[in-house]
Amino acid sequence: MDYETSLEGARKLDRHDSLNRFRDRFLIDDPGLIYLDGNSLGRVPKDAIALMDRLMRHQWGSRLIRAWNDEWMGLSRCIGAKLAGLIGALPDEVIIADSTSVNLFKLIAGALKERPGRRKIVTDSVNFPSDLYILKAAADLIDPAYEMVVLPADNGFAASEDALDRAIDENTALVLLSHVMYKSSYMYDMERITEIAHGRDAMILWDLSHSAGAVPMACHDTGVDLAVGSTYKYLNGGPGAPAFLYVRDDLQSRLINPVTGWFGHRKQFYFDTEFEPASGIDRYLTGTPSVLSLAMIEPGVDLALEAGMEPIRAKSLDQSEYLVSLWEYGLASLGFTLNSPRNGARRGSHVSFGHAEGYRIDQAIREEKKVITDFRMPDNIRLGIAPLYTTYEELHTAVHALSEVVTSGSFERYSDVIKGVT
Ligand SMILES: Cc1ncc(COP(=O)(O)O)c(C=O)c1O
Repeated sequence: MDYETSLEGARKLDRHDSLNRFRDRFLIDDPGLIYLDGNSLGRVPKDAIALMDRLMRHQWGSRLIRAWNDEWMGLSRCIGAKLAGLIGALPDEVIIADSTSVNLFKLIAGALKERPGRRKIVTDSVNFPSDLYILKAAADLIDPAYEMVVLPADNGFAASEDALDRAIDENTALVLLSHVMYKSSYMYDMERITEIAHGRDAMILWDLSHSAGAVPMACHDTGVDLAVGSTYKYLNGGPGAPAFLYVRDDLQSRLINPVTGWFGHRKQFYFDTEFEPASGIDRYLTGTPSVLSLAMIEPGVDLALEAGMEPIRAKSLDQSEYLVSLWEYGLASLGFTLNSPRNGARRGSHVSFGHAEGYRIDQAIREEKKVITDFRMPDNIRLGIAPLYTTYEELHTAVHALSEVVTSGSFERYSDVIKGVT
């Protein structure tokens, strides 16, 4: 083992990490637990704990219903405006609402209605399954005659630009893609693909769940039409925290919200029986927000803003590169494959190692080594890098754990039957 792949080498990298001061801003009550699942559920920001206490005692406890006018009515928009800074959107282009799945439904239906006469929808087979279910359901409701083109992963990880270029044509109403793939971490060239879609006047909707808070982007300047994303992954908003949606400013007056509810009404408390959409991004709201969950998103967004997306990406890239070199050095010979791109420019913030016994290995490192990764069928062990708190030492220890449970054969004690959340 040379210095670069040694534990001492990892510790040195941590000492020189300009973001290591952020780790202490998160609740880490068991320093012996290696947590590499921030790509699925981010850690708890300490500020969120203090905020929850204030919210419960002061806002809900003392202010009661008055807290709606004090704080809560503007919260979806206010946190959305801050989050906009992380995805390169204008403050009034983003709002927090519902779940990623529900927001997808709203924006898919809005986009299809915005392109009447066009009957083709383009997506890919490595998109998150929920996105594909919703896409089909929303399209079927509008017109069962839509042709759904689900492109195969012909570049090894996702659809190639050539295949997208061929598939998107003058009959295409909508292109729906994930920016970063949930299994492989492959990252599309958002600028290039948005340009291809716009070249045929098709609308494009990006799912940013695996890139928001991990990868800088310029949604507005790139001309992205629509986007949705999760807040409980790299944004550390908490389990099931509401999602965000982005609609480019010039589209907001044209694109309908098909789930019209009173929070999207122009004069909600006049209780008119006719629906009149609010102006701007507010029209994409539907019902009463889950305030406790919504409020918890702000501390994580604030931390990412304070750190800055460029330093976050630089560390993420360096750490994923580090993982690739550890794989090359110690895991490849044990049957692990690299299921993520080698080219850093096309890689998001997690690295997937494939192994025929992946699910059992994932359980073994969790139970025996206190290393938490996650598993995605058929063979992906995902190691998530959350640059605000992931250390090089954790990555080093995790790779060592993977190697040990395979070398010792201890993974064989675990079942290969998928149970619960993986
Ligand atoms: C890429 C992607 N899109 C959509 C979803 C669904 O999100 P939700 O369950 O919050 O609607 C997920 C969930 O993990 C996801 O990873």
